[in-house]
Amino acid sequence: MQHFLRHARACLTAAFVLNILLGLFGALPARAADEDGYDLWLRYRPLPTAQRTALQAAATGIAAPDDTPTVRAAAAELRRGIAGMLGRAPDTIPSTPQPRLGAVVLVRANALAQVSGLADADNLRRELAPLGPEGYLVRRARIKGAPVMLVAANADIGLLYGTFAWLRQVQLGVAPDRIALADKPALPLRVLNHWDNLDRTVERGYAGESIWNWWELPNIVDPRYTDYARANASLGINGTVLNNVNAKAEVLSPAFIAKTAAIADVLRPYGIRVYLSVRWSTPLELKETKTADPLDPQVAAWWARKADEIYRSIPDFGGFLVKANSEGQPGPQDYHRNHADGANMLARALAPHNGIVMWRAFVYNPPAHPGQVSDRATQAYDQFKPLDGKFDRNVLVQVKNGAIDFQPREPAHPLFGAMPDTPLMMEFQVTKEYLGYATHLVYLGTLFQETLRFDTRAGGRPMTVARVLEGAQDGRVGGIAGVANIGSSRNWTGSTFDQANWYAYGRLAWNPDLDSRAIAREWAGQTFAPDARVVEPVVDMMMRSREAAVDYMTPLGLHHIMGTGHHHGPAPWVDNLGRADWNPVYYHRAGRDGIGFDRTATGSNAVAQYAPDVARRLADPATTPPEQLLWFHHLPWDTRMPSGRTLWEELVAHYDHGVAEVAAMQAEWQRLRPFVDARRYDDVAQRLAQQQREAQWWRDACIAYFQHVSGLPLPAGVNPPAQTLEYYRSLAFPYAPGHG
Ligand code: GCU
Repeated sequence: MQHFLRHARACLTAAFVLNILLGLFGALPARAADEDGYDLWLRYRPLPTAQRTALQAAATGIAAPDDTPTVRAAAAELRRGIAGMLGRAPDTIPSTPQPRLGAVVLVRANALAQVSGLADADNLRRELAPLGPEGYLVRRARIKGAPVMLVAANADIGLLYGTFAWLRQVQLGVAPDRIALADKPALPLRVLNHWDNLDRTVERGYAGESIWNWWELPNIVDPRYTDYARANASLGINGTVLNNVNAKAEVLSPAFIAKTAAIADVLRPYGIRVYLSVRWSTPLELKETKTADPLDPQVAAWWARKADEIYRSIPDFGGFLVKANSEGQPGPQDYHRNHADGANMLARALAPHNGIVMWRAFVYNPPAHPGQVSDRATQAYDQFKPLDGKFDRNVLVQVKNGAIDFQPREPAHPLFGAMPDTPLMMEFQVTKEYLGYATHLVYLGTLFQETLRFDTRAGGRPMTVARVLEGAQDGRVGGIAGVANIGSSRNWTGSTFDQANWYAYGRLAWNPDLDSRAIAREWAGQTFAPDARVVEPVVDMMMRSREAAVDYMTPLGLHHIMGTGHHHGPAPWVDNLGRADWNPVYYHRAGRDGIGFDRTATGSNAVAQYAPDVARRLADPATTPPEQLLWFHHLPWDTRMPSGRTLWEELVAHYDHGVAEVAAMQAEWQRLRPFVDARRYDDVAQRLAQQQREAQWWRDACIAYFQHVSGLPLPAGVNPPAQTLEYYRSLAFPYAPGHG
């Protein structure tokens, strides 16, 4: 045997050896059947025998009222899940007056009394009271002394959320009799933003066309919309903005309102409201008013009529998302009005219908004088902070996680904590515009967590961004939005691992305090198998992946050094764009003297926009987190770093480390070959190989460029870039996906 093994090691790959061992000892099931990823984390594959037996006893039937679409959706999901995991469908039985023992029982709080023989009904009602309209209670209960699995909630949507939570636990292998959950969302608004155009292209989309088939709607309704709703409801996402923030006037035409209504009808049972992005100048462009001035009564009347029209078809329409006076979009400033004037006018049109306005703070104006260089990072704060308290009650200001634009790493946006009298929404980007599209494996759970846990020190006390959103500052509760990475690609997100970013966004939207590692574990267990031999390596890859990308793209606080337009790959040399603050050279400011953007008092003083405790820390390179150093400071190349290396050596070491990390992820994935079906395995393997090439390219191109501008020799022992700087500069990417 040993001889055989030695021989095998000599000539076979490690994965192949493992396969043979498995064959010999039967330690693992045969390689799983191919999957195309369509089922996401709702795969409900057959459980191992021991768990199946336990589930069989705990789920003899499903007892649920059959009176609303939402509860019917919950019961259908239970049936699907249990049937998948057990290999046979459970019975459907009446929930009152007395459900069969061993059943999964869905009950609304106000119907608990009708379940005869239910022990503890009063306690259950008391436990449910603080869980609000969307919360749920999932636990064992006794009916006439015998155990049932109870899913209870104050409202139907809680029953659906509780159902998904129970199914998640069962899929993860938790014994049904040990499942006990009581939960409710921290934020009332948990929204996806689709940057989907009406022609089905998707701005910054890397997963195919838009899932919304606008052309065929409203009469042809793709069943995929229901699966989209199921996936989102399984996470607790309760809103979706269907179209791009760079909106077209036509989305408010009667034809598109009808199409939107058809989508709303599908999503409604799943607790998901639809919203639309609107273009500021819509009435003017549709030639129905002579101006778009928000203070013109005709304009306000037009929007009020339009809102009435929408609500006639979609009674629970959510409201509008608005990108105004940003990147060429029209807005109230075109009429010398401010953002509050604009937002409030729309808010008043929606208020009678309980609609809201999500007004984006992603604004940056050209410098007032040609040649003047202002700091783009300061502009949203400068425009919005003075408007704190001036917005109507149904307006939320939606702020990107950082002050520039979804970079691989940004410090938290200074507006968080700075507008105590305005509810703020977080805007994360789930689609990976700046993080390697759907090609690179980059788990964003860690990025989201980093921002949500950032301590703004607002009011001189601990106040994380998550607490700001939850209204801890003074009770103004906000929300959270994620720019979707969903498309018509069979696996929805363009790659298996990008599904994890949708998942992590949704889970953190529900509970911003969840731990990104725990979320990764949940996702991996459901997506591959609840088996530590798969889950732990997958989680390890995920947890190191974002730092790897930062290292091979923009280490030490560098930012915005990507290719023009498509944003693919490195281009730190770009210096010829129409606006200074579109150019990478504006952001890294590398030259003979050093590198980095001075945002202290000697530079743009952006640090002063943070609360004093934070500003003090960021004003000094010694107390600035090393990973944000060059975001806030311009430093000489020979600055001594805590590691003992010079800044130049440190920068190069980070680039090298990023590339090495991708190699390590590739090796880790190869070891997982026996555990993952061939189709998904091969797809991930190909993407990792491409990520390796692109990481190397980022590293080589950036080192070649920074070496050129600094005039410094490569640190000892460092490999020179594979190509010349001219070569990297000459690369072009026509038809790169995702930009207009
Ligand atoms: C980025 C992105 C654009 C998008 C914009 C926005 O700049 O590249 O495609 O329109 O953000 O958030 O509005």
